[in-house]
Amino acid sequence: MVDQTHPVLTSFKLGDLELPNRLVVAAMTRCRADPAAGIPNDLHVEYYSARASAGFILTECASVSQESNAFPGAANLYNDEQVVGWKRVVDAVHAKGGRIFAQIYHGGRAVHPDMIGGGVTYSSSAIAINGTVHTQNGRVPHAVPKEASAEDIKKVLNDFKRSAELAKQAGFDGIEIHGANGYLVDEFLRDSVNKRTDDYGGSIENRARLLVEILEQVKTVYPADRVGVKLSPFSSYNDIQDSDPIALYTHVVHAIGSIGFVEISELFSFDATNAELQSKFFANLEHQSIRPYLKPRFQGLAFISNGGYDLQKSNDVISSGESDLVSYAQLYLTNNDLPEKFAAGTPLNGLHNVKEMSKLWSVYFYGSTGEGYTDLSVYEP
Ligand SMILES: Cc1cc2nc3c(=O)[nH]c(=O)nc-3n(C[C@H](O)[C@H](O)[C@H](O)COP(=O)(O)O)c2cc1C
Repeated sequence: MVDQTHPVLTSFKLGDLELPNRLVVAAMTRCRADPAAGIPNDLHVEYYSARASAGFILTECASVSQESNAFPGAANLYNDEQVVGWKRVVDAVHAKGGRIFAQIYHGGRAVHPDMIGGGVTYSSSAIAINGTVHTQNGRVPHAVPKEASAEDIKKVLNDFKRSAELAKQAGFDGIEIHGANGYLVDEFLRDSVNKRTDDYGGSIENRARLLVEILEQVKTVYPADRVGVKLSPFSSYNDIQDSDPIALYTHVVHAIGSIGFVEISELFSFDATNAELQSKFFANLEHQSIRPYLKPRFQGLAFISNGGYDLQKSNDVISSGESDLVSYAQLYLTNNDLPEKFAAGTPLNGLHNVKEMSKLWSVYFYGSTGEGYTDLSVYEP
């Protein structure tokens, strides 16, 4: 559907992929898989294929190995059984004329040893997240991770490459590397966590090395224009910060080179400190947002803005050229048919409509049934 009155509803060419509109379904972990197997099931097929009219869909973060899974119940991407499950999802999206990319990640220090059968967890440095985490044994303090060795880093690179190969087998149109929200890649990027003194720590160039090397690996599997990266310069989710976000991320968006897309998460509304940090940071700078610093430095095909976007704000950043595409999490969580609703001016479902707030996290976001996942009636106005 093309509606020229709304720039976000116009088509976009992402390399050889024709996107019918500029809406992207942002990655959302929803924990509907069997925690032991991490295989997508019928609920995933229904959930993802219902959003096929988007420009493209990003999956929930799928871990690249058993020991990198930070969420019990996530659908992951490190073995053949998971490929079979994901292939059903991908085929259903393609059958409806859609496009879907797998978001792959390593949970780093957000993984708790209890979630991975008592195994060792690692990060850039041996610093625990200050806080607690939900495991099958209830809420427990985060564990102190081991500082990743050269061998561990080699394994991470191999695991990302293997996961990209599995994504290709499942038929995904491409992949996104999750470099946001305080998981392993982000733990190497930002200096409140990365205290290393080797080639992966210290300077900004060194802290970006792991991400750049992961990209080199996955680009041997997918063409560069089918690979994207998500970054969150100001998110303090998972207890992480950087002393100079503009310097770090202007380097990173340049260093990732000519890839398909970069998705910049500007705001995560469940992360209260983020907005506060950001407004303090920009108070004395020329621009009130990080977009104008990053967009000119990115050499790839599409710059995606994320975080708190509605129709008006999306149209504004696209018509001003500050962004090529916009991704939505909460609006796509509550509305399958967002492009159609934007075009028709239909009132949107939203989290503010939820009648039983006590069910929001445990049942609707992360429960095991279709309630609040494939059944969106709980979000209706
Ligand atoms: C329930 C839920 C799960 C999420 N899971 C992921 C995830 O797996 N990977 C990711 O990169 N971001 C995840 N996010 C963050 C969103 O992708 C997005 O960056 C954030 O919600 C801001 O966008 P919004 O304002 O459109 O919701 C999640 C957000 C929500 C609400």
